[in-house]
Amino acid sequence: MASASSLLAEPALRQILAELAGAARAFRFEVAPNPCVGAAVVAGGAVISRGFHRVWGREHAEIDALRLAELAGVPKAEWDTLVVTLEPCSTTGKTPPCTDAILKSGIRRVVVGELDPDPRHRGRGLELLRSAGLEVEHLQGAAPLVDVSPYFLDWTSPERLSRPRPWILAKWAQTRSGQLSPPEHFGGGRWISGQAARDEVQLLRSRVEAIITGIGTVLADDPRLSVRPPGDLSRPPMRVVLDSHLRTPVSARLFQACPAGESAGPVHLLCSAGANAVRHRALEEAGAQIHGLHSDDPDHLRLFDIAQWLWQRGVRRALLEAGPELLEQCFHAGGIDQVRVITGNVNGGRGESLALRMSRLRFAERLDRECGEDSVLEAMVVR
Ligand SMILES: NC(=O)c1ccc[n+]([C@@H]2O[C@H](COP(=O)([O-])OP(=O)(O)OC[C@H]3O[C@@H](n4cnc5c(N)ncnc54)[C@H](OP(=O)(O)O)[C@@H]3O)[C@@H](O)[C@H]2O)c1
Repeated sequence: MASASSLLAEPALRQILAELAGAARAFRFEVAPNPCVGAAVVAGGAVISRGFHRVWGREHAEIDALRLAELAGVPKAEWDTLVVTLEPCSTTGKTPPCTDAILKSGIRRVVVGELDPDPRHRGRGLELLRSAGLEVEHLQGAAPLVDVSPYFLDWTSPERLSRPRPWILAKWAQTRSGQLSPPEHFGGGRWISGQAARDEVQLLRSRVEAIITGIGTVLADDPRLSVRPPGDLSRPPMRVVLDSHLRTPVSARLFQACPAGESAGPVHLLCSAGANAVRHRALEEAGAQIHGLHSDDPDHLRLFDIAQWLWQRGVRRALLEAGPELLEQCFHAGGIDQVRVITGNVNGGRGESLALRMSRLRFAERLDRECGEDSVLEAMVVR
């Protein structure tokens, strides 16, 4: 057990919190809509491990820091403080409650930089730790969410909580002129993006609960929407096709068995209620799960209903991999939260350019980076 004199004082703790918060932001596009969180285990006045929430749905920063502290070889009895930028969770979500792991670690002091903004959880984690006898401190202003994860304030706002819908990440590959299809006969007519960017997409697919596309993409590209390495094959997301009039061919690759080394989730076709019964039966026989949604628009499904449908099936983070028509409609409806735009080293192209739409969007937390031969823009969308 640490002596009171070896415990770090407030200025040093604030500095650790600020450093953790800065480093945690590097994972914002991987964890959103979850917040960026960093944690550190302190022993004898020194940081012995730093952990982060690195991937949506996977371990939280506290768990990462505790695990790395074990590897650091400092006996647990000497761990005196857990420093964490955000109040630890006390309920089971995608992972067990962090408060359980903290109590189990035997650590006696927890210092946090920010309370959970979600009114359903705010203060509960700290209260639970306090009532178990731990010393708990909240260093107000040390890691403000408005700087660390502003999008999380929107995700937990009363307005969003009252009309919940999944976090939608739109990803597309475009040519230099903003077109989503390469010029005719380009490289066999297939890819705009290079291998490195396509590998990243496989990782992304295994980190969402649904991949959504439109019937236009199914008819044009006949995609499988599967997960391939380096994606995690154990977690293939459901595949959702917006197909108001059930035009998906029964021969689509979506329904074919995955080749070895790939995995794919169930196929859900969302159509207008009362869509053609013969096609309905044939597509069910091909392996689709079909859901008729009532809509007052005779031409299209309503995006609001689709969001509701996804939410009710437990989808919290979804990837939109669609063509220009569906992308445009989703942007217009304010239904996209985050983008990854891959601009390939390709001139010209076919179809509508998204360049004008891009110039009208307001981005927050924008990051421009290179990925192999492509350039990648990542950002949160401001409504
Ligand atoms: N580069 C990339 O990253 C990328 C990705 C995907 C596709 N693409 C390309 O994009 C092209 C296809 O684009 P696309 O625009 O035709 O297809 P899309 O955007 O994937 O699908 C559009 C279709 O979705 C259906 N839909 C259902 N509800 C809708 C709603 N509320 N709003 C809008 N659409 C709704 C509509 O048909 P119904 O009403 O009949 O259902 C609509 O025609 C292909 O050339 C493909 O190669 C490129």
